[in-house]
Formats: sequence, structure tokens, C-alpha cells
Amino acid sequence: MAKVKRVPFIAGNWKMNLDHLQSIAFVQKLAWTLKDANHDFGVDGAEVAVFPPFTDLRSVQTLVAADKLDVRFGGQDLSEHDSGAYTGEISGAFLSSLDCRYVLVGHSERRTMHGETDEQLARKVAAALKHGLVPVLCVGETADDLEAHGPSAVPVAQLKAGLAGLAGLAGLSGTPELVVAYEPVWAIGSGKAATPEQAEQVAARLRETLAEVLGDDVAAATRILYGGSVKSSNIASLMREPNIDGALVGGASLDVAEFASISRFSKHVGT
Ligand code: 13P
Repeated sequence: MAKVKRVPFIAGNWKMNLDHLQSIAFVQKLAWTLKDANHDFGVDGAEVAVFPPFTDLRSVQTLVAADKLDVRFGGQDLSEHDSGAYTGEISGAFLSSLDCRYVLVGHSERRTMHGETDEQLARKVAAALKHGLVPVLCVGETADDLEAHGPSAVPVAQLKAGLAGLAGLAGLSGTPELVVAYEPVWAIGSGKAATPEQAEQVAARLRETLAEVLGDDVAAATRILYGGSVKSSNIASLMREPNIDGALVGGASLDVAEFASISRFSKHVGT
């Protein structure tokens, strides 16, 4: 596989926390803290993104654009449809027009609480790319899956299924950019992250799967994140693994100082 530098990516999934006023204070403080941190960490800093609730996005966009902040943002979900009679849904076109660069697809909370299927998620991945968004496709096994099938079978199957829509995507120019987030469901919100070795074992299988489905170049360029109880105290050991390029952070992304210090522990990584 080609040697490629992958810029580390630290993403904060706020879930249903922080309203639009709180989001402004948070992003402002985050950008200042990261700026200070960058004096210490120079060009090796991570790309940092937040995923606020939909109702915050316009406020975050306005702030980031006005103050030219070095923070990216994205939606926590998108509709598979472009527009129409889909009450409560949000189109990828709307996220794009708010300057979102990323969108989460298939978070385990969407899969379990909202019954999102692999087939639907493949359509959401395709919809994201169609609207110029980078999908962050979330995959991960439950504790029962782990016991029944071992660590990588379910995440690999979910990744394959999520990529199924790409082949037929008309009008997609160049190589699709996507991010894969490996989030073992048993580690989310549990305070007990996967060990770096466990996370690396699955991340390596996910990269092999990307190579099988999309080719070596896409596999080498695609960032694979680990998510599930990431904190400033465990990020460094996770990031030391060759196939882990960043983190999707839940609870710890709601504390500015903690989230900024998670970002500081990242580095440029390559295969
Ligand atoms: P925690 O970091 O709170 O475990 O959540 C992980 C997650 O679900 C991020 O999407």
C-alpha cells in the first residue's frame, strides 16, 4: 500500500447536548485554546471538528466564518433524500449550504434507537458524497457480537454494506473522501475504552476492507478513527497505533479543556 501522510482527525460528537448559545461559547473557547496549543505543537496539529445538534449549525457557521476559526464542523446525521415530504429529516444539501464539511453516518445510537439499516446507511453515504460532504461512517460491534463473532466481523460487514452504494454513484468525480469511525458499542459511554491493541486489530481489518472494495490508494488515504471512552489520558496510546488516525469523542468532547488536550496528543501518521 502506498505511503501517505494522513492528517490526524479529532472529532467531537456532542450528541444531544449544548444549545446554539452554548455552542458559540464552546467553539470560541475551543479555537482560542487550540491556537495556544499550536504554539507548542506546531504544524503537527490535528484537524479538529465538532458535530453539534442541527439547531446549532448556523450559529457555529457564522462564528467560524466571521472569526476565521480553525475548527471544522458537521451534522450528526443526514437524510438519504434530497428534499420532499420527510418530516423531521435534514437534507445533505442543507448541511452543505451551511458549510458543513463532514456528516456522521450510522452512529450506533442511530442504528439501535432509530432502526437504521445497512442498506439505508449505504444510501446515506451516497447522499453525503453527492452533496459534497465527507461521510464519517461509524461501525462497531456490541458486546454480544464480540462474543459471538469475534472483534472484526461485524465492523467489517457494516463497512462493506455502507460502501455498497458507491459503485453506482453517478457524477462522483475523483476518489471519494470518507472517514471511518470504529466505535465498539460496548466501549461507548462506558468509561472503558478498547485497548490500543484491540482497536488496532479492527482498524487494520477495516483498512484491508477499504483496499478490497475501493483500492489501495483510497485505503491508504482514508482516516480511520477510534471512538468509545476516549479521554486525554488514553488518546496518546491509541494514536501510536499505525492504523488509528484520530478519535471520535463523545462525553469528553463536551469539556473544552479536555477536548483540546485530546487534540494536542495527535500527530501526523502514515503507513
Ligand atoms: P464516548 O466518548 O462518550 O464513549 O462516546 C463515543 C461516541 O459515541 C462518539 O460518537
